[in-house]
Amino acid sequence: MSGKKKQKTKKRATLGRSLIFRKGNITDFEEYYGLYKIFEKEYKKISICEIFFKFSKRQIKDEFCDKLKNYFVVAEFNGKITGYIEGIFYDKYKRGYIADLFVLKKFRNLSIATKMKNIFLKEVQKRKYKQADLDVNVKNPAVNLYKKWGFKIAKYRMVKKLR
Ligand SMILES: CC(C)(COP(=O)(O)OP(=O)(O)OC[C@H]1O[C@@H](n2cnc3c(N)ncnc32)[C@H](O)[C@@H]1OP(=O)(O)O)[C@@H](O)C(=O)NCCC(=O)NCCS
Repeated sequence: MSGKKKQKTKKRATLGRSLIFRKGNITDFEEYYGLYKIFEKEYKKISICEIFFKFSKRQIKDEFCDKLKNYFVVAEFNGKITGYIEGIFYDKYKRGYIADLFVLKKFRNLSIATKMKNIFLKEVQKRKYKQADLDVNVKNPAVNLYKKWGFKIAKYRMVKKLR
C-alpha cells in the first residue's frame, strides 16, 4: 500500500470512531455560517459568469431555516461540523434534489460526502422516487465524483452576461 493510501486508511479509521451523521438544527447555525463563508470563497474561484450577491447574516440564517425545513444532515466529528448536505424532495415530480453539499478541506477524500449522499438517497428511495439530481458548476472537480456516483450530464445551463 502506498504511503498516501496508508495515511488515508489510518485517517478513516480514526474518523470512524467519532464521526456521526445527524439531522441539523437551529443551534448549528453559527457553525454552518462559518462553513458557508469558506464555501463561498472557494466557490468564487471556480464560478463562471455567476453573479454573487452579498447576503446579510440574517438572510443566510433565513435560508438556513429553509434548509432545515427541507432535508439537512451534518457530519460531525468530535462535536464539530465537518460537512453537510441539503436535499429537497419534489413529491410532484418524484425526484430528490441535492441542493447543497460541502465538506471541510481537512476532512475531504475520506468518503464523508459519499456517506451523506447515501443517507439522502436512502430517503429518496424510501419515498419511491424515480430519480435524484443535482446542479454543478462545469469547472468544479466534484463533477468527477458525481460521475463516480452514477450521475450523468443531462443538460447544460447557459448564461449570458448583460450590462
Ligand atoms: C465535493 C466534496 C463535497 C466532496 O467531499 P469528500 O468528502 O471529499 O468526497 P468523498 O471523500 O466522498 O469522495 C472523494 C472523491 O471525490 C473526488 N473529489 C471530490 N472533490 C474533489 C476536488 N475538489 N478535487 C479533486 N477531487 C475531488 C476525489 O477524486 C475522491 O475520489 P477518490 O476517493 O477515488 O480519491 C468536497 O470536495 C467539497 O466540499 N468541495 C467544495 C464544495 C463543493 O464544490 N460542493 C459541491 C457543490 S455542487
